Amino acid sequence: CGIVGYIGEKEVAPILIEGLSKLEYRGYDSAGVAIFDQDEIKVRKFKGRISILEENLQKETIKGTLGIGHTRWATHGEPSDRNSHPHTNCSGSIALIHNGIIENYMKLKEWLIEVNGDHFQSETDSEVIAHLIDYFYDGDLLDAVYKAIDKMEGAYAIGVICKDEPDKIVAVRKDSPLIVGLGENENFIASDIPALLKYTRDIYLIENDEVVLLTKEGVKIFNELRQEVKRDVFKVTWDAEAAEKEGYAHFMMKEINEQPRGVYETLHRRLDKEDNIVLDGIKITKEDLDKINKVYIVACGTAYHAGLVGKYAIEKFAKIPVDVEVASEFRYRDPFVDENTLFIAVSQSGETLDTLAALREAKRKGARILSVVNVVGSSVARESDDVFYTWAGPEIAVASTKAYTTQLISMYLLSLHMAMTKGTLTEEQYKAYIKELKEMPDKIQAILDDHETIQQLADEQFNNENVFYIGRGLDVTVAYEGSLKLKEISYIHSEAIAAGELKHGTIALIEEGRLVVALATQDKLYDKMLSNIQEVRARGAYVIGVAKKGNKEIEKSADKVIYIPDTLDELTPILSVIPLQILAYYIAVARGCDVDKPKNLAKSVTVE
Ligand code: G6P
Repeated sequence: CGIVGYIGEKEVAPILIEGLSKLEYRGYDSAGVAIFDQDEIKVRKFKGRISILEENLQKETIKGTLGIGHTRWATHGEPSDRNSHPHTNCSGSIALIHNGIIENYMKLKEWLIEVNGDHFQSETDSEVIAHLIDYFYDGDLLDAVYKAIDKMEGAYAIGVICKDEPDKIVAVRKDSPLIVGLGENENFIASDIPALLKYTRDIYLIENDEVVLLTKEGVKIFNELRQEVKRDVFKVTWDAEAAEKEGYAHFMMKEINEQPRGVYETLHRRLDKEDNIVLDGIKITKEDLDKINKVYIVACGTAYHAGLVGKYAIEKFAKIPVDVEVASEFRYRDPFVDENTLFIAVSQSGETLDTLAALREAKRKGARILSVVNVVGSSVARESDDVFYTWAGPEIAVASTKAYTTQLISMYLLSLHMAMTKGTLTEEQYKAYIKELKEMPDKIQAILDDHETIQQLADEQFNNENVFYIGRGLDVTVAYEGSLKLKEISYIHSEAIAAGELKHGTIALIEEGRLVVALATQDKLYDKMLSNIQEVRARGAYVIGVAKKGNKEIEKSADKVIYIPDTLDELTPILSVIPLQILAYYIAVARGCDVDKPKNLAKSVTVE
């Protein structure tokens, strides 16, 4: 979910709508606002996109200069008007927006019903917070909020307004993102910076367990013990322009095309004149590295797929054993983690709750925490010992593209850096990898320039309801990512599998007309892949092969071939993923799907 709030002198409704529209990537199944208008709080909330809320707000005049807004990604209770935020207490004097999950909400709800009777209007955990604050309210909103959060377990970023104190917003952060925007005679809260960029670049990053009191004139931050804390202003330097579409039909296509730039930035910001890797945010010494006997890479979704490549690179270059795990599983299975473990979190947003929770668990067990993150100042970054920022720039489309390729570059640089520190690669080997990495922006561009060939394939194949992605070695990791891209945005059922594993079950699903995307970029596995392609072709599959330019043999087995520029086997994922992103994109477009905002998904998932 995304939250936003404003207190100042301007008309609040358009500010809330503008802010919410920039947070739509966090969820978009319903949206609402609460605005203080002539002595009462008016709540308007609707199932569906923010545009529906906006249309409804235009039908009436709600005037006010204090308000809060919310865009929802449903957890407790189906998407509906009733379950949308803001929620209020029963008299409507307190209104609240919440991002997160209150784990003990059932217990709190039962208790509130016992003492106050059942006045609940929704199935949400969030409504309970409004009633709880009301229970404690005795003329001081800040005090009531403190008392309420004392009873709450779980994750939350909340914003609260009260009819009897219309000169303030109270906000709290625990495990869900929250920032404050500072203006002149106006102040803001939001889940993320883009929501406020139109109005201010001066930000306070709020820490866990902090409570914020906003008035028109100023902002005060308090800790758990109700002591005021000082915070430096964080100046946003990146451009709001970058967050707009710049003429592309979708953010996803814009971001696919931004990959040469993102890869270039992520790479060149880390290389000095002699091509040595310089990692500013990373303080691991040779002694630290020598102690490390195990690496965990933990992440979700696309970032997890980048982690799979990271495992390959670290094991191959730096000779340290690596396990890669999805974050939602990691912390519940008592993993072997101690002071000699390096824990690497990979996350575009830096706010994914599963990843954050796994990170905290590893930290508790003594691991050193390194993160590969795109959003500067995000929670994952702040809670890590070492941070490696990807330089992808803001990624808006739900389906991740440029974050993935820049994560790959980061994993390669990290593993090469580890290898050179440990002495497990020769200077010559190192130079060869760096030379090749430096050619990646141009090689990606060459694939992008040829996107029409892939578009044609998409136009022929978009009606196929079952698609398989196969590969061997590093190609399997890219198969996973290609398959996820297709599922996310086109709603086609798809599966990725190691080509050698096909015969142990999945090949039973291959029949006339099935689409199989076969990655065959690994030189030493090339012949084996050609056999696997024959196997599925023999059962009627239509095969799109992906191979390095020059490896023409594949044309005899596959129906169509997409070529990527030649490169070292170890680095092919940076290139082979590009045609798969483009293929998924054009298939989704051909099916008329909402590419940037696929159903049921959110860009940044801050619930468990
Ligand atoms: C969500 C997004 C995915 C993303 C995953 C991890 O599920 O829809 O595209 O890969 O979260 O996000 P992160 O921000 O941690 O990389």
